[in-house]
Amino acid sequence: MNIVLLGAPGAGKGTQAQKLVEEFGLVHISTGDLLRAAVKAQSKLGLEAKSYMDAGKLVPDALVINLVKERLMADDAQAGFILDGFPRNTAQAVTLDSELAAMERDLDAALLVDVKPEVIVTRLSSRRTCRSCGYTAPAGVDVCPRCGGEMHQRDDDKPETIQRRLDVYQTQTAPLIEYYRGHSILKEVDGDRPVDEVYADVKALLTA
Ligand code: AP5
Repeated sequence: MNIVLLGAPGAGKGTQAQKLVEEFGLVHISTGDLLRAAVKAQSKLGLEAKSYMDAGKLVPDALVINLVKERLMADDAQAGFILDGFPRNTAQAVTLDSELAAMERDLDAALLVDVKPEVIVTRLSSRRTCRSCGYTAPAGVDVCPRCGGEMHQRDDDKPETIQRRLDVYQTQTAPLIEYYRGHSILKEVDGDRPVDEVYADVKALLTA
């Protein structure tokens, strides 16, 4: 199963991806996690990406596309993947299609986790993320339940940056909903319900 997750920042893409990984053993490729790891490692890519991420803007396509290409070619991605946070604009979507075609692979679904902006602001302001493995949970969880790492608030989860990320989503990423509808692989789920209810629908849609 090869899946793209779509949805605004904080819609719950990472949360649903974590559950899909646990149940189906797919590889979770989150460009946000890959970029944050590069920032932490202070690699050339990380140093270039940091200012864009802190400002809530998209990192330039060339940097992100190379990262995803490399990850898709790895052995563990051959049995199936969940792309979370990529593609983020039409240029990235078109590149993904041609890269997959070159690998003789296809996308099975583009799953939109749909949540209203007012819910997003509350969720992201109270989100905590593991410094070590990227696991996410609501505020109040201080130790990562997955790896024991320290939970902290992401720099881009501050109110002014959240609004910028929502604006970027509306102008650059939301048009991908129509892009994938046009490819007849769009599936939609109402993400404004308890996590397990959302997941029940996600699973039903992806295994139908
Ligand atoms: P990225 O890390 O991809 O962030 P994002 O898309 O903004 O998404 P989030 O990780 O914030 O949200 P999510 O939908 O995964 O929600 P989550 O499950 O955590 O990108 C960060 C930055 O990197 C970008 O701004 C950009 O600079 C750069 N970048 C990344 N990819 C790029 C690309 N392709 N091109 C260019 N630049 C790129 O949930 C949020 C919170 O809500 C959590 O606390 C969770 O516990 C809670 N929650 C989840 N589901 C529910 C529910 N059903 N009910 C109640 N609470 C819930």
